[in-house]
Amino acid sequence: MSVITDKLCRPLKDLRISVIDRCNFRCTYCMPKEIFGKDFVFMPKDQLLDFEEIERLARIFADLGVRKIRITGGEPLLRRDLPNLIQKLIEIDGIEDIGLTTNGSLLGHMAEKLKKAGLQRVNVSLDALDETLFQSINDSNVKPERVLKGITKAKEAGLEVKVNMVVKKGMNDKEIIPMAAYFKEQGIALRYIEFMDVGQSNGWDFSKVITKKHIFQELNKYFDLEPVEPAYLGEVAKRYRYRGTNTEVGFITSVSESFCSTCTRARIAADGKMYTCLFAENGFDFRDMLRSGMRNEDIKAHIVNIWNQRTDRYSDERTEESAKNRNKMEMSYMGG
Ligand code: GTP
Ligand code: 5AD
Ligand code: SF4
Ligand code: SF4
Repeated sequence: MSVITDKLCRPLKDLRISVIDRCNFRCTYCMPKEIFGKDFVFMPKDQLLDFEEIERLARIFADLGVRKIRITGGEPLLRRDLPNLIQKLIEIDGIEDIGLTTNGSLLGHMAEKLKKAGLQRVNVSLDALDETLFQSINDSNVKPERVLKGITKAKEAGLEVKVNMVVKKGMNDKEIIPMAAYFKEQGIALRYIEFMDVGQSNGWDFSKVITKKHIFQELNKYFDLEPVEPAYLGEVAKRYRYRGTNTEVGFITSVSESFCSTCTRARIAADGKMYTCLFAENGFDFRDMLRSGMRNEDIKAHIVNIWNQRTDRYSDERTEESAKNRNKMEMSYMGG
């Protein structure tokens, strides 16, 4: 196995694989209904990588040093037979950790099967506990109880669970403390995510971002927090612990404290395009290579070449200007 690095000396260690571009939610900050409405054209099935193709790519990435895989979407639990894919990925030499990021609405039915397939961890998105607010954010009629039930089932099945809450000014500021109190009580790690300028359609600007600093100050009024050392270099979340407990709370600070200098993540969209940054304008197609009988060694050489040329550090360089003018991919397409 080799270790490859990019132009900023960052190794390739993590692979985030999007398995579908569809979702049953229409979160206003991700897939607003005005754009992702009835007429929106999603990828036809034959354009999605099939499980054999995903596995083949993942093996090549593992050979290049990838140790951690995260399955994303859209909503990955909408992809039929997903546990079969997980079962295949877990068997790959070198892969030490597989996680899944989900909106939790289908987790109740799936948790046992996912665990049996070898999944270790799930990150569940939940932006509010209040039913009316929850439904207004994700523009669906799913109730927060369903997601909470999914979380309970996942824990019962033996999966490690974390909760992701995107915080946006004027959207769910009021839920910062209730969410902390609820998940502290449950002993589940909650991570606050700063609202990011991914894609073209979510109307992002700096004024709508609630930073870690603000959330931390709010939390400090009610809770006693102590910092937790990063588990590894390049960990995305800044972690704290409620003093005297094992329960953690974290912050994903893509806007206020970017973490590009240690970014070791590659992304594969559901159509087989590789992206070297969440904010990339262009991807590199691997589906044609996989389908045209290209040898693994040659595919590998392409990946090495792409990674060796990589200079991405979008969040380090973000300006109001770049946030508006760049032709970024939607997160539901590229994967979170
Ligand atoms: P863990 O392995 O459990 O720490 O997972 P994770 O935090 O990497 O994954 P998750 O899918 O839960 O991501 C949480 C948030 O972090 C999402 O909003 C992601 O888009 C964001 N995120 C993850 N990786 C990156 C990255 O490389 N750059 C930026 N800007 N955001 C990222
Ligand atoms: N800013 C921050 N986080 C976002 N997510 C989706 N869109 C955005 C955005 N614009 C989150 C989801 C999920 C994770 C994969 O990314 O809520 O938790
Ligand atoms: Fe779906 Fe997640 Fe996007 Fe919400 S944030 S629309 S749940 S993919
Ligand atoms: Fe990595 Fe791009 Fe995110 Fe920076 S902005 S941490 S380079 S994915």
